[in-house]
Amino acid sequence: MIRTTKLTGISLLVLLLSGCSEVNDFKPVAGMDAMDIYANACSNCHGEGGDGKFGILLKIAGTDEEADEIVDKVLNGGHIMPAFPNINKQQAESIAAYLKAL
Ligand code: HEC
Repeated sequence: MIRTTKLTGISLLVLLLSGCSEVNDFKPVAGMDAMDIYANACSNCHGEGGDGKFGILLKIAGTDEEADEIVDKVLNGGHIMPAFPNINKQQAESIAAYLKAL
């Protein structure tokens, strides 16, 4: 019984983490501005308006990271956060500016 509970817990964890793959295949559509890209590519993990998910978890509004660190995170990913190879540097810079202004 205990074993089953443990196994269920582990599979749930794997399921949760598999959402965080190494590369995200999101591709911005022409004409999308930073806010649109954020809403489509980032808000599912970081919440609408950078408020985070489930309270303050992954809150990024008002992040201490410098704009170039944010750009690097988007292009190359973080420890868990996936990289976004289809977002170009210019778009990443506008997302960084958008986040710093939140
Ligand atoms: C699959 C979930 C996921 C998505 C999608 C995602 N992130 Fe993240 N992000 C994370 C996780 C997890 C961390 C913290 C750990 C790490 O560095 O991987 C993080 C950390 C960050 C940080 C650093 C915050 C700080 O103050 O330390 C920034 C900035 C950031 N993400 C920006 C973005 C942007 C911009 C996007 C959209 C292009 C994005 N993230 C999409 C999961 C995600």
